Amino acid sequence: MKKWWKEAVVYQIYTKSFCDSNGDGIGDLRGIMEKLDYIQSLGVDVLWLNPIYRSPDVDNGYDIADYQDIDPRYGTLEDFKALLDAVHSRGMRLIMDMVLNHTSDEHWWFQESKKSKDNPYRDYYIWRPGKDGKEPNNWGNYFYEGRGSAWEYDEATGEYYLHNYSRKMPDLNWDNPRLKDDMCQMMRWWLDMGVDGFRMDAINRLVKPKGLPDSPNPPTPPVGIYGYVVDRTMCANRPGIHELLHELNERVFSRYDIMVVGETGNVDAAIAIDYVKEERREIDMVFHFEIAKNPVLVNAQQFKEIQRRWYHVVEQHGWITQYLSNHDTPRQVSRFGNDGEYRYESAAMLALLMHTHPGTVYVYQGEELGMTNVDFPSIEDYNEKYTVGKYHTMVESGVDPKEALDSLKMMSRDNVRTPMQWNDRDQAGFTTGKPWLRVNPNYTRINAAEEETAEKSVLRFYRQLISMRKAHPIMAYGTYRQILEDDPELIIYLREWEGERWLVVCNFYGNTRRLPEEAAALLADGANAPQTEAGGKNAPQTEAGGENAPELLLCNYETGERETIRPYEARIYRL
Ligand code: GLC
Ligand code: CA
Repeated sequence: MKKWWKEAVVYQIYTKSFCDSNGDGIGDLRGIMEKLDYIQSLGVDVLWLNPIYRSPDVDNGYDIADYQDIDPRYGTLEDFKALLDAVHSRGMRLIMDMVLNHTSDEHWWFQESKKSKDNPYRDYYIWRPGKDGKEPNNWGNYFYEGRGSAWEYDEATGEYYLHNYSRKMPDLNWDNPRLKDDMCQMMRWWLDMGVDGFRMDAINRLVKPKGLPDSPNPPTPPVGIYGYVVDRTMCANRPGIHELLHELNERVFSRYDIMVVGETGNVDAAIAIDYVKEERREIDMVFHFEIAKNPVLVNAQQFKEIQRRWYHVVEQHGWITQYLSNHDTPRQVSRFGNDGEYRYESAAMLALLMHTHPGTVYVYQGEELGMTNVDFPSIEDYNEKYTVGKYHTMVESGVDPKEALDSLKMMSRDNVRTPMQWNDRDQAGFTTGKPWLRVNPNYTRINAAEEETAEKSVLRFYRQLISMRKAHPIMAYGTYRQILEDDPELIIYLREWEGERWLVVCNFYGNTRRLPEEAAALLADGANAPQTEAGGKNAPQTEAGGENAPELLLCNYETGERETIRPYEARIYRL
């Protein structure tokens, strides 16, 4: 079924690092407002804002202290309403990040909850007595914080509370019907204001396993020295989660024309279908971690295998997402491409790959400029919890500090969180003050102003791709079939929709290849042109003139070539 959110390109804004309007070094809502022309010029349909709620900012806003207010660093509720209006009046939409798994320990619910065992808010969180003088189970927190346990002891009542993330982010108890009511009401409040949907943080983790058993796995280094196991499967996809999401759908989502995308670690395509199949009425689509957040670098063949499995979700009437970076991943050009010699070519190839795969496309701020990973010299320059927490535990467990830092650099979430690079002026034009996180020193070369006029411009390439999506429904709705599944370097596939047929050819690597015969033959066939002798080695002449000649719609190299595929070359043909 056609839906506006299936056709959409979503632009993710990490407000804190996007644009600072008042010189305090922190991006803010007025900053976004100032850049709306730029955002609109990309052609994107939806803006997704990372959390901007009132928060002590332990995990860059994912620790919410008040769901119904804007953090003063970012502005006021009035600023937000003004932004929402401005976004709508430009024909775009806006979705919020919704964090339901935990709150900040400074949320008043938790302040009440910890007062006494019979406080009415006690059961909003997950409290347990210790076991043999130790934590209730062996779970480790995902941020490697402290000695590593997912439990924090609280003197006042002599019990522990669960925190899968930071100790300042207690997990909520979704078995509590009053919590559910409060959350539904809160979400409706945003939707009634006109918000167009939610990105649901860690949504498949809301329901915990019955009895909170130990993880059966061995302790996880480096917190293993204290006996804790960082096992993200323990709270993922537990019985009851589908009933809960269906209930949220009935009580909230289905009452509005919105989109809901879930962040779901530990979910593969076979599990995902139960979250996103249309008739199940839970959520619309999920972000899986198999490519962008895979700690092991996926190669071309794995990429293809993963896409084949996920396309199956579409065939079963579910919907999927396409993204290679977000606020939790490295920069995609550094991770999957080449951020040196072939920065333009590989950034453009990766973009083309995403935009021509089935699913809703997500672009993370700066990706459209080909922004790269950062290489900070010292742990002091890093900010985010995961990198810092893991670094300290590693060093404490005996790892050499330099080795520890080097091992964390590639995947550090700070890579993508450095300020947006607007121009080559001081602090990349992000702020007139001192930015909260250091600017990537390559801003003098890589920035939006430069990209506007550069001969090879990642930015212009994104604009082309995004505008093509408006003109060609095949990009959202076309069927998808790979050819040469086992080719270790090239990613080649056909899309088809209402009599139209596209062939996409991408070189995932920096070498030069000959166009394989199977692809050459398809180009020779054109739009079912009568078969001639042609095909194979001597590529036929059809491209030059014949009526049925395949049309090269987009390519990241200027001069047309057919038989060789250059480093990171990517082409779209209409057959
Ligand atoms: C999600 C967010 C991440 C955050 C975590 C805890 O994974 O994307 O940034 O740290 O949830 O809320
Ligand atoms: Ca500011």
